[in-house]
Amino acid sequence: MLRMSRSGADETAGTEPLDVVRLRHDFPALEQRVHGHPLVYLDNAATTLKPRSVIDAVAAAYASDSGNAHRSVHALSGRATQQLETARARVASLLNAGEPDEVVLTGGTTDALNLVASSWARTNLRPGDEVLITELEHHANLVPWQWTCEQTGARLRVVPVSDDGTVHADDAEARMGPRTRLVALAHVSNVLGCALPVAEITRRAHEHGALVAVDGAQAVAHRPVDVQALGCDFYAFSGHKLHGPTGTGALWARRELLEAMPPTQGGGGMVASVSFERTTFAPPPQRFEAGTPHVVGAHGLACAIEYVQALGWSALRAHERDLMVHAEAALASVDGLQVLGSPGTRNSVVSFVMDSIHPHDIGTLVDRHGVAIRTGHHCAQPLMKRLGIGACARASFALYNTRQDVDALAEALRHARERLS
Ligand code: ALA
Repeated sequence: MLRMSRSGADETAGTEPLDVVRLRHDFPALEQRVHGHPLVYLDNAATTLKPRSVIDAVAAAYASDSGNAHRSVHALSGRATQQLETARARVASLLNAGEPDEVVLTGGTTDALNLVASSWARTNLRPGDEVLITELEHHANLVPWQWTCEQTGARLRVVPVSDDGTVHADDAEARMGPRTRLVALAHVSNVLGCALPVAEITRRAHEHGALVAVDGAQAVAHRPVDVQALGCDFYAFSGHKLHGPTGTGALWARRELLEAMPPTQGGGGMVASVSFERTTFAPPPQRFEAGTPHVVGAHGLACAIEYVQALGWSALRAHERDLMVHAEAALASVDGLQVLGSPGTRNSVVSFVMDSIHPHDIGTLVDRHGVAIRTGHHCAQPLMKRLGIGACARASFALYNTRQDVDALAEALRHARERLS
């Protein structure tokens, strides 16, 4: 099976600054006009645009490689199997996993976190055990644990967001105890953009005998992720936030954890043997991939990862940092606008509110200028409560965004303010 190392991926990557003008041509969606204006796409934390290499790979796979993986001996099935397993290896290289078989291909982050909740947590949690999450979690990293706690008699505990708009390891540790079994936290907040101290919280959680599950949805497209360096036990992400197809993603888990976890869905592909008396299960990861896998999606995801890795993480990070510095200044110049969180902590995501303009009105008015942002509670209602708001507006960046995009947003916001005041 194909194996790719992180260093192997980075060696091929450029060290030059991103050539954003050139790479924008890779994204056909950017060629369109919206309400008569060139599209300014700043909703990348919700989903990203796809490069032509991914679109073409998906189309080509449906055109000619449309077999089912792990099922038949004919050529098309063989190609599908190879695409699926190459994708697994590519995900392993993205996360610096120990081996591809530690990667379960899922429908996305939500699917991956629900798998941990339904399998590991439901099997291992006992009445009185504790699951620790943080106050800024996306509902996908909250609701599954809440349900599992209700089902097992375990208790959900919450690490507060501090006044500086981040989560501190000391505050997390203060809530760990002998009954803490699992700490589940975001790598990067989808509202505040702050990166959580995952490695440090993991170290302390392990000292308390707890495992750590990380929601990497807002991290994988913006920073190198090394699950071995983080030391965590589970890591989940979505392909569509990484320029790949929707309905793709992965759960990484340490091999010994996957081996001890029961499957949550029965069907084809996940069994070793079946009789009316008894079924035995395939080893992981197949044990967790019942039914026909999303082969073409996985192939598209592999192409997306390849695209991002080829750009090089340091160039990508430098570009997105520059955009954030520019955005913080541009948004500060808009009257009556308040940015949430703290300067210097935001990674590719900047959320804000405006005096006496509802976030939905902000989103609707800037859309009239071709500017796409997200508005609402961002699937983080407890965080909204903590911030004392019902909703906010959010701009989120990707590798193809420019300072001009940020200026277009600021200009559209000024128009919105004039229109409504
Ligand atoms: N989780 C995605 C977001 O934050 C949908 O927008």
